Amino acid sequence: MDKSRVFVSMLFFLLMCVAFSVSEATSTTKPAFITTTHPPVHKPCSIQTSCETCLANVSCLWCQANGSCMDYPVSYVIPPASMCKLSQARWGVCWVNFEALIIAMAVICGILLLAISVCCCCCCCCKRRRSSSFDREDEQFARRREEIRQRADERRAERKVKHDEIRKKYGLIPDSDHPYSKFENE
Ligand SMILES: *[C@@H]1O[C@H](CO)[C@@H](O)[C@H](O)[C@H]1NC(C)=O
Ligand SMILES: *[C@@H]1O[C@H](CO)[C@@H](O)[C@H](O)[C@H]1NC(C)=O
Repeated sequence: MDKSRVFVSMLFFLLMCVAFSVSEATSTTKPAFITTTHPPVHKPCSIQTSCETCLANVSCLWCQANGSCMDYPVSYVIPPASMCKLSQARWGVCWVNFEALIIAMAVICGILLLAISVCCCCCCCCKRRRSSSFDREDEQFARRREEIRQRADERRAERKVKHDEIRKKYGLIPDSDHPYSKFENE
């Protein structure tokens, strides 16, 4: 009984999948059909009378001030005020004026630049800190070596003193510090 229920639900799921894919296919074939019957017409910007139809062509600029569509002044990058005031110009979307668009782009660029520079600074700092820690390790190693050397020197000196004392005791070397050594030698 359980098995049959699982089977039915699986079948239902399969049917749903098939129905969905069929509807997808028909919906994807429809626009293709439309575009083949209606090839894109190349209309100049100047004949457009509404913002939406004007901005459908990316090479057009809409001026809200006198409701005119004009060719985008590509050579200027930013449309000059003589053509249309920036606050009145629309490009890409009708609900954002060009001024706001430029400000938004500038802000986004600024944020990106800031983020990149902060990242670079962080990387540099990390590298320097790591290298300085290496330097510190080197320094510690050198100091330890120096300590060992000094201790060895001290031990050698002590040994020498002890040997000298022994030699002095048995009179193997003349003791110049001894007050009577001079007389003894003479
Ligand atoms: C877009 O506008 C330009 C300039 O007016 C025009 O040459 C071009 O044909 C237009 N493109 C479309 C798809 O309407
Ligand atoms: C709209 O105004 C601009 C200047 O502000 C001008 O160059 C353009 O010819 C005007 N267009 C119409 C259709 O009046």
